[in-house]
Amino acid sequence: MKLAGKVALVTGSSQGIGQAIAVRLAAEGARVVINYRSNPQGAEETLSKVQTAGGDCHLVEGYCDNDRGYSVGADLGMVDDVRRLIAAGIEHYGQLDILVNNAGIEKHAPFWDVTEKDYEAVLNVNLKGVFFATQSLVQHLRETNRPGKIINISSVHEELPFPNFTAYCASKGGLKMLTRNLSVELAPLGITINNVAPGAIETPINTKLLNDPEKLGALLKNIPLGRLGQPQDVSGLVAFLASPDADYITGSTFFVDGGLTWNYQEQ
Ligand code: BGC
Repeated sequence: MKLAGKVALVTGSSQGIGQAIAVRLAAEGARVVINYRSNPQGAEETLSKVQTAGGDCHLVEGYCDNDRGYSVGADLGMVDDVRRLIAAGIEHYGQLDILVNNAGIEKHAPFWDVTEKDYEAVLNVNLKGVFFATQSLVQHLRETNRPGKIINISSVHEELPFPNFTAYCASKGGLKMLTRNLSVELAPLGITINNVAPGAIETPINTKLLNDPEKLGALLKNIPLGRLGQPQDVSGLVAFLASPDADYITGSTFFVDGGLTWNYQEQ
């Protein structure tokens, strides 16, 4: 149990990668604050999986603690909601040690058709939400004088172009520099920050692609390991980065992409 005694908040954990991360962190002994925006049923499902993964009884300061998960609705695209979410987690468990900035959205459109509304939706959730969630956690850690771990779920598209997803790529590229910058600024506080960059993972964000055999076939040809990733392929790395085994790791991005990013072959 690498995370016994720790409290972790995973944004966007009602489905997909976020749900797998919440469950995995619970299995490692953390108590988990689950977050959803539009899918409360998904959050309920995560909560019940978290309870099961965490086991019924953990001895915390001599008493049996079976409150392994707590779910909070909040829109990561709205700063007031973001602050309320972090505060709710701290209030419920009395502390917050690990923040996984997982919530993310993407909108498909050629550059010349992108609306201001869609641009803002993507940038607000993927970058502004991460900025202010991280700020709230850091304020809490400074006040309580404790170390912490921040893990951002970025994307291979913090490096790789993705035509028709320019706002998404800009948000993930921004996340890359946010992480590098904060690794320097937060290190003296004992806080580490890293990015995990998934490639094509089988989750609801990809539903359209998964249902289009032609596009899916073309994508699979680009993945040297020959399959899409599963959410569990990502959650194991997040559990490692959240643990003391990763105490000396900060400011880096780790790709979980089946080899996709560097796959260039001449036919
Ligand atoms: C995107 C997916 C895409 C994958 C690989 C992810 O960041 O969310 O839509 O399939 O990258 O390109």
